[in-house]
Amino acid sequence: MKYMELIAPCHFGMEAVLKREILDLGYEISKVEDGKVTFLADAEGIAQANMFLRTTERILLKAGEFKAVTFDELFEKTKAIPWEEYIPKDGKFWVAKANSVKSALFSPSDIQSIMKKAIVERLKSVYGISWFQEDGASFPIRVSFMKDVATIGIDTSGVSLHKRGYRQMTVKAPITETLAAALIMLTPWNKDRILVDPFCGSGTFPIEAAMIAADMAPGMNRSFLAEDWKHLVPRKCWYDALEEAQDRVNTDIQTDIQGYDIDAEALKAARSNAKMAGVDGLIHFQQRAVKDLSHQKPYGFIITNPPYGERLEEKEALPQLYREIGESYNRLDKWSMYLITSYDRAENDIGRKADKNRKIYNGMLKTYYYQFLGPKPPRRKKD
Ligand SMILES: C[S@@+](CC[C@H](N)C(=O)[O-])C[C@H]1O[C@@H](n2cnc3c(N)ncnc32)[C@H](O)[C@@H]1O
Repeated sequence: MKYMELIAPCHFGMEAVLKREILDLGYEISKVEDGKVTFLADAEGIAQANMFLRTTERILLKAGEFKAVTFDELFEKTKAIPWEEYIPKDGKFWVAKANSVKSALFSPSDIQSIMKKAIVERLKSVYGISWFQEDGASFPIRVSFMKDVATIGIDTSGVSLHKRGYRQMTVKAPITETLAAALIMLTPWNKDRILVDPFCGSGTFPIEAAMIAADMAPGMNRSFLAEDWKHLVPRKCWYDALEEAQDRVNTDIQTDIQGYDIDAEALKAARSNAKMAGVDGLIHFQQRAVKDLSHQKPYGFIITNPPYGERLEEKEALPQLYREIGESYNRLDKWSMYLITSYDRAENDIGRKADKNRKIYNGMLKTYYYQFLGPKPPRRKKD
């Protein structure tokens, strides 16, 4: 089977988690850069990656990579790519997204229109037609310039992969599903350990954790653009991926995953989303303020994103709120706490310095992932 390169973009700072996921799926990594991991795969890999990867935003089929500092160069080198290997005669194609960092060519709209013209020119001569109906499958093209090198990919996912399909109801400032999954996977939490999100909002952390616990593929309940690319990815690849996902999922397990929030509306959303995801039986949701947080057992995990004060009245309440987080955490026995926030006095108000701290961009927002590490539980004795 023919090998190709696939590009998986991710949140900045989450490359190592995504790399691990790709290796676990059985594919060979060719490059890890800021915000993306490139790997080698076959057609089956397109279906597998879309179905099973939890921490990437989309899967791009790499069509080419070259240096270009003038629009003439961009045109000629784009035209030299064998687009006919990807786009059929009736394919709908456009340059959906262009971005540029430290490069001579930087205007997205100019890059987009020059590239579209170049692809049209190429396909006109290959297919011997002068007009494209464009009423077939879609091929959105994405290009990113970094220091004058253009990397060109065709989007196989369509709607971003953070949209698993379960989040029908939302709250203010929800975290994306892909980032929530990556943050959980950065911790040593596993399905046999306790997980509590005291600020669960629409339930993203508990739902992603429950999906991980149940080995539920993130792509099970959605579709992908490349399902229509029958000439490139045989239908069987998609059927096999879905069948494998269905075989693997097991919700008949014991978990201790809890989501709390002070707001009744948030809990309504969280419960409905968990049901939609099919993991409502694995999570306990309850209306509760963080100051009332407690758990009888030791060695649990708090994984959460508390309010960070977008509105003024919220900002004023932050010192007290973070003090309450600190006090509640102190009452828990041998717990670990992982907290993502852009509030810069978080450690100060919580009352202790994090053991580890990682800068993460949540969209344009600079946040920190504070990690307060509890002791490891003693190893269970073998009978
Ligand atoms: C940034 S949002 C969390 C979003 C969530 N991760 C999601 O994906 O939807 C913060 C949440 O904290 C809740 N909250 C605010 N003050 C609280 C308190 N004192 N105790 C518990 N929850 C609180 C809010 O109602 C809000 O849902």
